[in-house]
Amino acid sequence: MAFVLVTNSKGGVGKTTLTASLALTAQDIGHHVALIDLDRQRSLSQFAKLATIPYQSGLQLGPRKFAKKKGAGLLLIDTKATLRGRELEEAVAHADAIIVPCTTSHVDIEATSRFLKRLRRIKDLKKGRAHLVPVLNRVRLSASLSNQIAHAELKLHAPIGAWFPATKAFEDVLESGRGIQHSRYARRNEVCENLEKLLHLCGLNHTTR
Ligand SMILES: Nc1ncnc2c1ncn2[C@@H]1O[C@H](COP(=O)(O)OP(=O)(O)O)[C@@H](O)[C@H]1O
Ligand SMILES: [Mg+2]
Repeated sequence: MAFVLVTNSKGGVGKTTLTASLALTAQDIGHHVALIDLDRQRSLSQFAKLATIPYQSGLQLGPRKFAKKKGAGLLLIDTKATLRGRELEEAVAHADAIIVPCTTSHVDIEATSRFLKRLRRIKDLKKGRAHLVPVLNRVRLSASLSNQIAHAELKLHAPIGAWFPATKAFEDVLESGRGIQHSRYARRNEVCENLEKLLHLCGLNHTTR
């Protein structure tokens, strides 16, 4: 079972959107998925209902127990922006991979850089248990992609695992419970490739369920 945490202390960077999109892509490539929503705003829970994906709001059951109960091969956890201290350490302790979405905005990159520093100080991460995967979201396709990625990598001191364009098509994912591949967005194949790449970086490959 792969346990993937999606977190950043910055709000509005795409944690919930990417968690939902990853869940749908993982299902498409043959994985059983379950979701845990650790944000009181419950946006991911709303999405899970629409998409009929098993979910839990909060941690009534421990993550591994919950995933086992639902027969999930992938458990995705979406967090609130203010997850810190013990709560953050506990979530990190269980994770196989930690996805940290960030936008291209200067303010978000600075805040994410500080958050990554905090994450790297956590004992379980130091021991190399979890794989840290920064993701660049809301990339402007009117500007150079490689420049935006190089700038983020320089500031975050880590390779960017995947990138996603700024597009309204993403807003529909949470609202409709349907993946971006069902949208009319011209670059949807590129987005899907990046979602699969991200799953691959988290240790999940195509299955023939
Ligand atoms: N790549 C993107 N392009 C355009 N809008 C996006 C993108 N990713 C997220 N959004 C929008 O940004 C807002 C914040 O995203 P959300 O996933 O709720 O962030 P977080 O969970 O980190 O607070 C939402 O309105 C969402 O639809
Ligand atoms: Mg959110």
